Amino acid sequence: MAEITRSRSGFDGLSQQNRSTTPKIQLLQTATSEAWLTQALANLDLILLDHSHCERKAAGVALNLMFRYPSSEKLVRTLTAIAQEELSHFELVNQWLERRQIPLRSLPAPPYGAALSRHIRREEPERMLDSLLVAALIEARSHERLGLLADHCPEPELAQFYRSLMASEARHYGIYWVLATTYFEREIVDIRLATLATLEGELLATVYPQPRIHS
Ligand SMILES: [Fe+2]
Ligand SMILES: [Fe+2]
Repeated sequence: MAEITRSRSGFDGLSQQNRSTTPKIQLLQTATSEAWLTQALANLDLILLDHSHCERKAAGVALNLMFRYPSSEKLVRTLTAIAQEELSHFELVNQWLERRQIPLRSLPAPPYGAALSRHIRREEPERMLDSLLVAALIEARSHERLGLLADHCPEPELAQFYRSLMASEARHYGIYWVLATTYFEREIVDIRLATLATLEGELLATVYPQPRIHS
């Protein structure tokens, strides 16, 4: 399957490094296929609708972790900011939907999120580590794909919107990774991340028939 390379920002999907404040981390093991981009560009309205769901779910992930680990102060404080930011993204995407007269409606989720979550171990503290790393991988993939949309979307204003969100998602994957290394030894984080990143790449090896951000 052909892989595509980010052009203007000068990095590829395999070794992403945000240009601003994110620590140098390489989370994704596979780059998004050209087939996904072709599918997404042919279905921009549906991608926007799915994107709305993604932003709401991202806020929910941060809130759930705050509820589950209320005494982990660094986690609570940093995820408070992420939850707020994801909700503000949710509203911005919804404004785009309104503008394009796309009604908010439920959309069957692709298998990606649930399949990744099945690899979160049930016992603590492993559950915490896996939850943070799965969230980091999802954010990293969002960052990569919003970047592809920013580079290739034929509508300049929409492309600019994706570009504006992309930097936030890069910061988010960095934050989840930093949280993982706050509560767990670096070596343990690296080993588990490698396993989960392999699984993440395998889940996207075949493009889901329905256009989705994580199809
Ligand atoms: Fe977001
Ligand atoms: Fe995010």
